[in-house]
Amino acid sequence: MDDEAPDLMDYLSPIPEIYAHHLFEELIRVRWATIDLECNWKFWSDNFNESYHTRTAHKQVPPIIDQDHFTSRYEMFPMGHARIIQMGRPSLRDQLPDDVHHPFDDVLREWDIDPDQYPDYETKAMQGWEDLKEAKKRLWKEKGYLHYEHMNDEDLTESPFNFMFPNIAFGASADGMSIFRWEPDPKDPEKCTFDLWNLSYPVEGKESYVVCTDKTPSEMKEAEHEHMVYNDGEGTPGLEDSVVYQDWSLNAGQTEGWHSRGYQEP
Ligand SMILES: [Fe+2]
Repeated sequence: MDDEAPDLMDYLSPIPEIYAHHLFEELIRVRWATIDLECNWKFWSDNFNESYHTRTAHKQVPPIIDQDHFTSRYEMFPMGHARIIQMGRPSLRDQLPDDVHHPFDDVLREWDIDPDQYPDYETKAMQGWEDLKEAKKRLWKEKGYLHYEHMNDEDLTESPFNFMFPNIAFGASADGMSIFRWEPDPKDPEKCTFDLWNLSYPVEGKESYVVCTDKTPSEMKEAEHEHMVYNDGEGTPGLEDSVVYQDWSLNAGQTEGWHSRGYQEP
């Protein structure tokens, strides 16, 4: 609509170049939902640009993705896009107790690595992460992970999360992708819609896909579109264990805060 608008690929730069060796065109969209939410759309532009809330809202994440700021890498790009690259290994700051299940053990076992060989948590997190990279590079073809062919060490294990100005975010890991888009309601600034896509690569013998920080698997086939109304969590069954559900649950409190007489513009 704007004759002065830049070319799309120039606007998206450098994201297309960064991910050129991912075979996104092979992804299967296993979940496709649009959710009506009771908050201003810019909540999400904030939410996906800060990590202060993650340790309290998303407690399931640190045992599998190290979200500590001092081990992550941050990138900011000219058009307002940004990336945070978090390491795909357990956080050393938020260690799980020995007597509970460690989800990273399952990741290691999937690549024929015995998690019990490591003498302690720290060695498992750090050496296991190195061993995982090595195993993926050695075994990708025989295990049917054909989309790994052009991936580098960082692509194979780390967790990059991207913010695309002004209203798209996506995480692109070696095994799948989640895309979020939020749009304003045309009339009510207290409402917005949130699109959620989970996508996975076909791997022979794999019939389902579960986002690494969720519990509920999706069938490995193209999903039908679902329209949901969040309604304090009552209208989004099956999504309770997802990271975005935990974010949706923060809407109400923050919206109330914006209405406080004590709130000044940030
Ligand atoms: Fe969050």
